[in-house]
Amino acid sequence: MAFKTLATLLTIVATVQAASTGLTKRVVCPDGKNTVTNAACCPLFALRDDLQRNLFNNGACNAEAHEALRLTFHDGIAISNKTGNHGGADGSIMIFDRIETAFHPNIGLDEVVAQQKPIQARHSINPADFIQFAGALAVSNCPGAPQLPFFLGRKVATAPAPDGLVPEPFHTVEQILDRFADAGPVGFEDVEVVWALSAHTIAAANDVDPNTPGTPFDSTPAIFDTQFFLETQLHGTTFTGRTGVKGEERSAVRGEMRLQSDHLLARHNRTACEWQSFVNNPQKLHDRFIDAWLKISLLGQDQDLLTDCSDVIPVPKTINVQATFPPTLSNKNVEQACADTAFPTLASAPGPATAVPPVRR
Ligand code: HEM
Ligand SMILES: *[C@@H]1O[C@H](CO)[C@@H](O)[C@H](O)[C@H]1NC(C)=O
Ligand SMILES: *[C@@H]1O[C@H](CO)[C@@H](O)[C@H](O)[C@H]1NC(C)=O
Repeated sequence: MAFKTLATLLTIVATVQAASTGLTKRVVCPDGKNTVTNAACCPLFALRDDLQRNLFNNGACNAEAHEALRLTFHDGIAISNKTGNHGGADGSIMIFDRIETAFHPNIGLDEVVAQQKPIQARHSINPADFIQFAGALAVSNCPGAPQLPFFLGRKVATAPAPDGLVPEPFHTVEQILDRFADAGPVGFEDVEVVWALSAHTIAAANDVDPNTPGTPFDSTPAIFDTQFFLETQLHGTTFTGRTGVKGEERSAVRGEMRLQSDHLLARHNRTACEWQSFVNNPQKLHDRFIDAWLKISLLGQDQDLLTDCSDVIPVPKTINVQATFPPTLSNKNVEQACADTAFPTLASAPGPATAVPPVRR
C-alpha cells in the first residue's frame, strides 16, 4: 500500500516534470505575442481573433457559437461503417454546402455555413479543420465549458456525404443508437451518445417549430451546465409554440423546447442511468464531453497524422453553480427512469413559476 502510494507520487512528479519541460519548448509565433507548442498552430491566432470579432460578437456564447458547435456534429457524423467509412469531419458540409444543407436534418445550417465561409476563405485553413476549430472556439465562449481539444491537418472531402446519416429529433432511440454505432470504424457506444448530447446544454431550436425560433433546450442556454440533463427528466407540461410538432415533446418550463429524441434518451433503459448521472456533476460533464466531442471531430481522420493545436483554444470562464429545479418544481416532478440510482436531491430555484399546467388537447 505504502509502495503503491510512493509509486503514484513518483508518477505525478514525473508528469509534472514532463509538463514543465513541455512548457520550456513553447515557440513564439511570428506575431511576437502568442506562444504555442507547435509553430504550425501560429496562423490559428489570427483566425481566432477574426472569428471572435466577426462571428461570435467579441467572444460571446451567442447563437452563432451554438450553431458553430452544431455544425461540427453535422459534418462529423456523416460517415458510415456500412458503406466504407468515407466522409466524417471532412468539411463536406461546407465544400458541398448546396447539396448537404438541403438535407432535412441540416435545416438552418445554410445560414451558418454562409456566415462561416468568407471567414474560412480569408485564412489558410481548410474547411474540415475550420469547422472543428470554430466549434471548439465557440464552446470556449460559454462559461462553465471544458476547454475542447483541437487538432489541425484534416484531409478534405472529395464528394458530398449522402443524405440519411444525421439523426433527427423524431427518430427512435434504437435508430439513434444504431446510427451512432455505425459512425466510423469504431462507432459510438450508448453511453458516448449521451456524453455527446451534453452539447444541448448550449442550444436552441430555430426550425423545429419555425414559429418560435431561438427556443432553448434548457433554462440556461448561454452556460455549459447540467441543467439540460435535469430539465429533460421532468414531467413535461407545455409546448412553447405549436402543439403536435414532429420531433417535439412537452417541456416542463415555459419558453423551453424539449426534443422528442432527448426526452426518449432520458427515459430509455439503455441510456437513462447515464443521462441522470450528469445531473449536478459538472466534472463528469467536462470529462465526457471532451471525449465524445473529440471523437466526433476526428471521424474519418487519423489523429496520428494531425497536429495538436489545443493550446490555441482559450480556457473558458469557470462557473460555480448547483443544478436546481426550475421555480415551483422539485424531485416530485422527476420522471424517474434509471432503475439503479435515485435522482439526486436538489433545491428548487426561487422565483415565479415558469412551468404551466398540462395543456389539454
Ligand atoms: C440524437 C442526436 C441529435 C439530434 C436528434 C439533434 C437534434 C437537434 C435539433 C433538431 C436541433 C435544433 C435545430 C434547429 O431547429 O435550429 C439541434 C440543435 C443543436 N444541436 Fe443537436 N442533435 C443531436 C445531437 C447533437 C450533438 C452530438 C451535438 C454536438 C456535439 C449537437 C449540437 C447541437 C447544438 C449546439 C444545437 C443548437 C444550435 C442553435 O442553438 O442554433 N446536437 N439538435
Ligand atoms: C464495421 O464493419 C466491419 C465490416 O463489415 C465489421 O466487421 C465491424 O464490426 C463494423 N464495426 C462496427 C463498429 O460496427
Ligand atoms: C430494456 O427493456 C427491454 C424491454 O422493456 C428489455 O427487453 C431489455 O432487456 C432491457 N434492457 C436493459 C439493458 O435493461
